[in-house]
Parts: sequence; structure tokens; C-alpha cells
Amino acid sequence: DVQQSFYDAVGGAPTFRALVARFYEEVARDEILRPLYPEEDLGPAERRMRMFLEQYWGGPHTYSDERGHPRLRMRHQPFRIGPIERDAWLRAMHTAIASIDDDTLDADHRRALVDYMEMAANSMVNSPI
Ligand code: HEM
Repeated sequence: DVQQSFYDAVGGAPTFRALVARFYEEVARDEILRPLYPEEDLGPAERRMRMFLEQYWGGPHTYSDERGHPRLRMRHQPFRIGPIERDAWLRAMHTAIASIDDDTLDADHRRALVDYMEMAANSMVNSPI
């Protein structure tokens, strides 16, 4: 199908579940990122990120049904995100993306995902240091 969404093209829910689970495994043991997360249980944050990414890439709209407009820059204002935090976040995300095999995520889709994450992480920076 020429109109197939990115979400479907990369395997849908199981792929996003694996990607975001791996990302939060990295967050859990990252000394820069972990202290930023207000809740002891990372499960709810993992779920919000998964719902957001699924929606962004053409999957179910559960995120906005539950949370409304993403307003991600506003929602990140409580956290100081400088270059160090951005780099730590991107390191974790690159590790998560690398953990998805080539049959699931081909080179073009991988590139699109990486480019998006780099753009999005840069746009979330709210502190010069
Ligand atoms: C929420 C950190 C970039 C998507 C959060 C939270 C923290 C955080 C601490 C609160 C956790 C929670 O939901 O309870 C960071 C840091 C970033 C970053 C340090 C470094 C650049 C991004 C990017 C995206 C993103 C690039 C999207 C591609 C989200 C989403 C939420 C969230 C969807 C939940 C928003 C909601 O409340 O509905 N982030 N984030 N974050 N982040 Fe990030």
C-alpha cells in the first residue's frame, strides 16, 4: 500500500513498544537523565512517550485522547535541558534505535527516525548550559 503509515511500515505496536522500552532501560541507568524524572516509577513516563511516538508516526491517537495537544516544549519547561541533557537523551535514543533489527527498521526508516529524534531533541533544549 503506497499510503502505508511509517507506523505500519516498521511493524506497528510491537516495534514502538520495543523501542521505547529500550530507551527507558537506558534512562533508568543514566546518571544525567534519571534524576530529571520526577516519578520513582518510570512506567507511566514510558507509556506517555510510547503513545506520543505512535501517534506522531501515524499509529493510534491514544496520546491526544488522554493528554490533549502534545505541547512538548511547554511540558519540558520544568526540566532544565541543556546540551548535556540533550546529548544524554540522544545517546539513549540512538542505543534504542540501534537495538531494532534491520528487517524491522530498514535503512531509510532508520534514517528518518534518527533525523526526527535529533531535530526534536534540539527543539527541547531550554537552557544554554
Ligand atoms: C516527558 C525529559 C526530549 C517526548 C519528559 C519528562 C522528562 C523528559 C523528565 C517527564 C517524564 C514524565 O512524563 O513523567 C526529556 C529530556 C529530553 C527530552 C531531558 C532531552 C532533549 C524529548 C523529545 C521528545 C520527548 C525529543 C519527543 C520526541 C516526551 C513526552 C513526554 C516527555 C511525549 C510526556 C509528555 C506528557 O506529559 O504528556 N521528558 N525529554 N522528550 N517527553 Fe521528554
